[in-house]
Amino acid sequence: MKTLTVDLGNRTYPIHIGSGLLQHAELIHPHIQGKTTTIVSNETIAPLYLDVLHKITSPYRNTDVILPDGEVYKTLEVEQQIFSQMLTARCDRKTTLFALGGGVVGDMTGFAAACYQRGIPFIQVPTTLLAMVDSSVGGKTGVNHPLGKNMIGAFYQPQCVLIDIDTLDTLDDQQLSAGLAEVIKYGFIRDLDFLNWLDQNMDKLLQRDKTALRYAIYRSCQHKAEIVAADEREAGQRALLNLGHTFGHAIETGMGYGKWLHGEAVSVGMVMAAELSQKMNWISKEAVQRVKNLLLKAKLPIEPPKAMSATQFSDLMSVDKKVQDGVLSLILMKSYGECIVSRDFDPVALQAVLSRE
Ligand code: NAD
Ligand code: GLY
Repeated sequence: MKTLTVDLGNRTYPIHIGSGLLQHAELIHPHIQGKTTTIVSNETIAPLYLDVLHKITSPYRNTDVILPDGEVYKTLEVEQQIFSQMLTARCDRKTTLFALGGGVVGDMTGFAAACYQRGIPFIQVPTTLLAMVDSSVGGKTGVNHPLGKNMIGAFYQPQCVLIDIDTLDTLDDQQLSAGLAEVIKYGFIRDLDFLNWLDQNMDKLLQRDKTALRYAIYRSCQHKAEIVAADEREAGQRALLNLGHTFGHAIETGMGYGKWLHGEAVSVGMVMAAELSQKMNWISKEAVQRVKNLLLKAKLPIEPPKAMSATQFSDLMSVDKKVQDGVLSLILMKSYGECIVSRDFDPVALQAVLSRE
């Protein structure tokens, strides 16, 4: 097992990464304060991993909340189900919530923890690659609104993140690739060496080689932990983690939640960010091709959906969380392996990218 730390003063917490960790009660018991726990999961993951989590939470009085599966259920209405079941079970301010699942369960459980009786502890047990390398770390929690992705939420940090990479054994190939988009993102933002490693080891990752997966997850979490510790509430460099997300969120919302996987939408968004950077002569055409090649190697899409017009993209991008005083910031590429946050992009070049000219 390897352990990283998200350094946030008295809210500092560990990220444990390894195989078989769901059997290790001693990793989570120190983070449970009271006598009760609530495990939030969904109807797909619960049959696979709920029993094993029950074993290590057996000293506590536990309630299970099983949500319907899918991005389309990441809503305030479904969130209410968590509160109702917890109130019925008389959960109190010392109840510890567990998020057992992917990013949807993680974001919703974290938000429930932030809100229930004004804040209770929670533990992230991510079971998708995407949740392991990104959503379980850093405390962004929330739900979607029909008018915009992740628009309702809170910054609220977990007590601990427990990454048992064995849970990836049951994840399907398309979801694995979606997670790889967020792994590759760290390379594009700030780690050329990692990009080269990913280029050489992509086949191993797709074949679920445990050593390669452990390394990719560790290195991704290392980047995430460093960035979150430096800029928890996204006043500056944390925005880099949104590379491709403004375009990607527009695709997810525009196409209807759940039609495109988050990681797939981010993959296309990163290509669009690369193309915009190239149109402004920040990076070369060869660099854009390298971006595309790596994503294709990870079996990810690189073309935006034909059904989305430039106008639809512009409208949806104008409600992005990086819009301030009416001005949008985008994450753009300065070179292959280095990104910056910029408000100074060329609107004509952006329009050309959105129109696919
Ligand atoms: P997801 O949570 O929908 O999970 C994907 C699918 O895999 C689901 O059907 C799920 O039931 C299934 N699944 C999960 N674990 C499994 C396993 N081990 N075996 C078999 N099936 C399993 O999707 P995701 O990609 O994990 O997360 C996407 C969500 O995360 C989006 O809502 C996105 O906005 C959010 N997100 C949040 C952050 C953040 O910082 N909070 C960062 C990135 C993404
Ligand atoms: N996934 C983006 C962030 O955590 O900031």
